[in-house]
Amino acid sequence: MNGDAAQGAQAPTAGRSVLVGVSGGIAVYKAVELVRLLAKEGLAPRVVETPAARRFVMPLTFAAVAQTAVLDDETAWQGDRGWFQHIEAARSADVMVVAPATANTLAKMAAGVADNLLTATYLAFRGPVIVAPTMNWAMYEHPATQDNLRTLAARGVEVLPGERGDLACGEEGSGRMASPEAILMAVRRAFAREARGPLAGRRVVVTAGGTREAVDAVRFIGNRSSGKMGRAVADEAYLRGADVVLVTTVPAEAAPYEVVAVESAADMAATVNAATASADVLVMAAAVADFRPRSTLAGKIGRDERESLTLELERTVDILAAAARPGLLRVGFAAEAGPRLDRARAKRAAKGVDLLVFNDILAAGVGIGADDNEITIIGADGETHVPRTSKRTCAAAIVDAIERALRGSA
Ligand SMILES: Cc1cc2nc3c(=O)[nH]c(=O)nc-3n(C[C@H](O)[C@H](O)[C@H](O)COP(=O)(O)O)c2cc1C
Repeated sequence: MNGDAAQGAQAPTAGRSVLVGVSGGIAVYKAVELVRLLAKEGLAPRVVETPAARRFVMPLTFAAVAQTAVLDDETAWQGDRGWFQHIEAARSADVMVVAPATANTLAKMAAGVADNLLTATYLAFRGPVIVAPTMNWAMYEHPATQDNLRTLAARGVEVLPGERGDLACGEEGSGRMASPEAILMAVRRAFAREARGPLAGRRVVVTAGGTREAVDAVRFIGNRSSGKMGRAVADEAYLRGADVVLVTTVPAEAAPYEVVAVESAADMAATVNAATASADVLVMAAAVADFRPRSTLAGKIGRDERESLTLELERTVDILAAAARPGLLRVGFAAEAGPRLDRARAKRAAKGVDLLVFNDILAAGVGIGADDNEITIIGADGETHVPRTSKRTCAAAIVDAIERALRGSA
């Protein structure tokens, strides 16, 4: 069941094709890897290069990886691959990705300028478009670029935000291209959205990781949660077409959706409260501290002044309970010490949540910090046991249950 569920998320890509518009940014070399991934996925990538992109990577590289000829302004004006290549390329693809998307190409797309094969093809294309901007941080943050990105997003283009990090120009800041893996996820999701499953276009907030409750300026009380289960649920919901916000203490690498980094239970509560105001689903996969130090020292507690240290703890807010409101499907997690399904069932009833995911933290090789999990999903329509398997497969089963619940409440 679970393996099928994971594959089910990818099935809409079968037999489809992707047009990859490549413009002239230094990240062109990463587009080669993207094309390789798309080809491996059976998505018949076809590359359109701008003249500037050709100066970075010759068409031969893309052609060899895609196993099909590259289109560019030279082929267009020679007419040797058809007379109306911009129209033919646009009609024959199901999804268009522009990666890297330079400031220049984004500006042209926003303004409707069609002065090369890539931009003309974009105007002629009628399917879902994904752009992966990349440029120096000052170019990225320039109001003109930001306005262009907003314009494109308002027209339904999926903008994969430039990530923060080291930039090719030697500076550090925002504007690094989303990873090829993240772009591939966005492509899969575009197909899932077309398939219009119950999660397509729904806003899903997922929490992940263990909270850290400050004791002093350097120390905290934490737990062993790795954030992997929440990340897997967020990825799976995204792949099925949801608009995902991941609220996490372990900021995810290469996530194609919004990631909000938080630290304490109070931070997480405030962020979840704001993020769920317009959400359809909340999945509380984070291991939130039940107690936190009543007071926090601004400096550092020293060992010389004392023989022992007593910390007084107070209860933290119950984020899942506080989020309750009509129209929000809530999914809680119950990590119990031992096979205490009874406690998990009672917890579901007490919290009034739609789904409760139980796992036994004492079972070997699964749960907190591990790559695998073994879970039981408790819902109104019964219980689903998922024997030990990857967290990705567990996530697919959880998202299946969410989709069933959404269908049931529709
Ligand atoms: C070495 C080098 C690196 C460049 N990197 C970028 C980049 O990452 N992002 C960007 O927007 N422009 C970058 N540019 C500038 C673009 O190549 C330039 O604006 C060009 O006109 C873009 O054309 P196109 O959008 O048609 O591909 C770079 C230029 C050079 C010479």
